[in-house]
Amino acid sequence: MTLLKKFFKQQDFGLVKGFNGGVSFGGPPAMTAWCYLRDGVLIDTCTRHLKNPLLACLAQEKIDTVVITHHHEDHSGNAGPIRRAFTIPVYAHPYTVTKLSTPFSIKPYQHLIWGKAATVDALPYGDTIHGRTLSFKPIHTPGHSKDHTVYLEEANGILFSGDLFLGERIKFFRADECFEEQIASLRHVLTFDFAHVFCAHRPTLGKGKEALARKLDFLLNFYGTVKDLRTGGLGTRAIIRRLDKKEDRFVKYFTLNNACFAHMVRSAVALADKE
Ligand SMILES: [Fe+2]
Repeated sequence: MTLLKKFFKQQDFGLVKGFNGGVSFGGPPAMTAWCYLRDGVLIDTCTRHLKNPLLACLAQEKIDTVVITHHHEDHSGNAGPIRRAFTIPVYAHPYTVTKLSTPFSIKPYQHLIWGKAATVDALPYGDTIHGRTLSFKPIHTPGHSKDHTVYLEEANGILFSGDLFLGERIKFFRADECFEEQIASLRHVLTFDFAHVFCAHRPTLGKGKEALARKLDFLLNFYGTVKDLRTGGLGTRAIIRRLDKKEDRFVKYFTLNNACFAHMVRSAVALADKE
């Protein structure tokens, strides 16, 4: 960590307060993560490397409850320290609760960029998370991870989307991501009313629902291309070679193949073979 500079900021979005942190390799901060505060509810907890500035900021706020979108360390990193510092409950999907109850291993790049999540004594969420005056609906959205959950503040049409969005044209999957579940989760979420999307890596105010719909279109088009090639008799490796634009080389090598374009193709092929 000594070669890396830590970066942290807070930003008032009006409806929502955001806290953003990451590390820099010398240029702009890389792979930063956001957590958000709305009506006393903190959605996600940023990375363990940013524990001290985040806790200092939260000490100035009114925070009653924490919810976590999924167990990945850039979302769950400080749930334990926050729970202990403010003596407040932490809610999450039952898988997240179990996963975060004991230490779990992460890869070297995850240690470097985000740090290992602290353990936390969390509780499984019910149908509704209650803020001070507003309510938040947990919606299970597997695909990015099996426990992935988004939280919808229905009264004002605000979706806290964790890693469901990330971008409209994604270029790689983690090894454990599921194409079929991502499509189903996007379709499910798009049945709800909302306008603002507070992605954990890219907040999109207004037109957020349209952005999620474009991501769904992109995945469906990508899937259609993969399925056509598969139906035409190509094997998975041949499809990867045909479609790979070598755009994710840095991510592929930096993550030691944990996140890469090939995983995205493999998951799409798995769906094509199933249909
Ligand atoms: Fe994630």
